[in-house]
Amino acid sequence: MQQVSVGLVGLGTVGAGVARLLTQQADRIARRAGRRIDCKWAVVRDLSKRREADFEGVRIIDDVRRVIDDPDVEIVVELIGGVDAARRIVLEALRAGKHVVTANKALLAEHGPEIFAAARAADRAVAFEASAGGGVPIVNALNVGLAANQIQSLAAILNGTCNYILTQMTHEGMAYADALADAQALGYAEADPTLDVDGTDTAHKLAILAQLAFGANVKTADIPREGIDRLELADLTYARELGYTIKLLAHASLVDGGLELRVAPTLVRRDAPLAQVHGPYNAIRAVGDAVGDTLFYGRGAGMMPTASAVVGDLIDVVAGRAILTSRILDFWSADAPPPPSCRRAGSAAATTSAS
Ligand code: NAP
Ligand code: HSE
Repeated sequence: MQQVSVGLVGLGTVGAGVARLLTQQADRIARRAGRRIDCKWAVVRDLSKRREADFEGVRIIDDVRRVIDDPDVEIVVELIGGVDAARRIVLEALRAGKHVVTANKALLAEHGPEIFAAARAADRAVAFEASAGGGVPIVNALNVGLAANQIQSLAAILNGTCNYILTQMTHEGMAYADALADAQALGYAEADPTLDVDGTDTAHKLAILAQLAFGANVKTADIPREGIDRLELADLTYARELGYTIKLLAHASLVDGGLELRVAPTLVRRDAPLAQVHGPYNAIRAVGDAVGDTLFYGRGAGMMPTASAVVGDLIDVVAGRAILTSRILDFWSADAPPPPSCRRAGSAAATTSAS
């Protein structure tokens, strides 16, 4: 069977999961991709750091240029996080004629138009399933499974760290700081966890989903957002006494031809499906004009669930599906028909949802 070489940039929580899946499940993945996927390089920042696992056959280096300049490498997988270095690496990889797989929602939310213009110019795919919903295949669902629909609304739990913290506080009475420390130790949180708890990470993911569901090129700064960092145990207790639970919800809906967006701690009725989403799980309720109500659920953060999404993208790229999706759907295109105008949905502060 033919082989394709991949350069993994980043070998932290997600990168290590991807390397593990590619090495331990090589035969299964090859059958589904049509070619064997060889992780030739893994790029890290600190070569002296002790790695949990032994990644057999993977050359661990600290110079990304060796990957970009390697003509054998057809796909670069960007898993370093952050915006500036990631942007440079992704743009250089595309210009060097490589396809890109990324889990980086901050990068796409902030620089989607530039990244996808470079992808179009190079006729290469950028696949990004892991950038929203972790292991939940919501990107593919919006791009493919629900393609016949005009999505009318999305209501979603999109941050595993926040949902884990809220669950631990509500069900275990744990202090906010202890629950956050746990989420960091479990590999759910961003390198800078402020992005999780202040609602920015959820807003990044909502900006990506708004692009896919509504064709709207939304700037994160235009999404009113509030995080969970100012909630207290007492807020959760009072909500419970009133028959509600508090969730950090992302919300997008078409209202009178405009798009309303917000991220906010939200009172959700305790018997509603989104109230049953606990720990690092995410859920996305999408309403389409043909399909009606749908609900997607699964682990939104953590090593192997996220690796599942990244390797799924790799298989799509190798099988040739990702480039077709990229060409046809024209993500973040300046030539796309005008999206619904975006409206600020008023204050982001705690709202009530029937979801
Ligand atoms: P992480 O654990 O902090 O790992 C980052 C990796 O990138 C480390 O191996 C680090 O090297 C390397 N790195 C950082 N800067 C670099 C640079 N300039 N050049 C080369 N290597 C560099 O991060 P993560 O949790 O795996 O997240 C990676 C990406 O996936 C982020 O965009 C994140 O938002 C996204 N994501 C994460 C999750 C999750 O559950 N963790 C879920 C979905 C999406 P060292 O090992 O030497 O420090
Ligand atoms: N920090 C993110 C979260 C990782 O907790 O949801 C998954 O995108």
